[in-house]
Amino acid sequence: MNLAFWKNEGDDTAGQVDFSRLPRHIAIILDGNGRWAQRRGLPRTAGHKVGAETFRTIATYCRDIGIDYLTVYAFSTENWKRPKDEVGTIMTLLRRYLLEAIDTMERDNVRLRFMGDLTPLSGELRALVDRCNAISDRLSGCQCCICINYGGRAELVHAAQCFAGDCAAGAVKPKDLTEESFEQYLYSGGIPSPELLIRPGGELRLSNFLLWQCAYAELYFTDVLWPDFTKAELHRAIAAYQSRDRRFGAV
Ligand code: FPP
Repeated sequence: MNLAFWKNEGDDTAGQVDFSRLPRHIAIILDGNGRWAQRRGLPRTAGHKVGAETFRTIATYCRDIGIDYLTVYAFSTENWKRPKDEVGTIMTLLRRYLLEAIDTMERDNVRLRFMGDLTPLSGELRALVDRCNAISDRLSGCQCCICINYGGRAELVHAAQCFAGDCAAGAVKPKDLTEESFEQYLYSGGIPSPELLIRPGGELRLSNFLLWQCAYAELYFTDVLWPDFTKAELHRAIAAYQSRDRRFGAV
C-alpha cells in the first residue's frame, strides 16, 4: 500500500496507522469553531466557515482511505439558542454544502444521509436534503451522515414513539422488541455503530451525540480545535483506536 499518497506534507503520522484495519464508521463532534475564531479576533461565524472547509477535507480523505461511514454533529437541538446570525451562518454553510454535493455525489460515489428532526429547517434546505437523498438512493459508496437539529435523547424518544405507533397499529408486539429491532427505529437504522468517536475542542463529553450508537465506541479527545483538525490528527485518532483492546465486556 502506497502510504505516500495519504501522507500530509512533512509528517509521518500515516505511518502510525494500519490502513488494512480501519474503523468502518467514524463519528466526529465538530467542536471548537467559535474559540478558533475568537482567538484570532474574528467573529464566531468565521470559525464555522473554516470548520466547514475542514469538514470537506476530512470527509474527502475518509472516503479516499476507505472509511465506509462518517457521521458528523453539525447542529444540535440545543444550537438554536445561539445568536440568530450564527445560526443563519451555519444554515447557509449547510445549504452551500448540499448544493455542491448535489453536483458531485454521483461523480464521487458519496452518499449523504441526514439524522435529526429536519422539520424546523427552511423549505429550501429540506428540498435540498430530499434531492441529496434521492441521489444517494442510486449510489453505493461511502456514506456521510450529517446530524442537523439532532439530539441523542430526542432520537431515542422519536424511536420509542415510532415503535409505540407500530404497536398501536398491531404491526408489532411490545414483548418482541429487541436491541436489534429497536435500532431500526433510530435515525441511524441500517448503519453499523461507530467504532471511533472523535471530539476535538478539548471538552470531555458526548453532548447528547449518538447516545445509543456509541455504547461501545472508542472515544478520542483532542485539544485541537476543529478548524485546525488535519489528516495528521485523524491519523493520530485512528492509531489510538487501533492501539485499544476492545473486549466488549469479555475478558
Ligand atoms: C461547534 O463549535 C460547531 C457547530 C455548532 C457548528 C458546526 C457547523 C459547521 C462546521 C458548518 C457546516 C457543516 C457542514 C457539515 C457542512 P462551537 O461553535 O461550539 O465552538 P466553541 O466551543 O469554540 O464555541
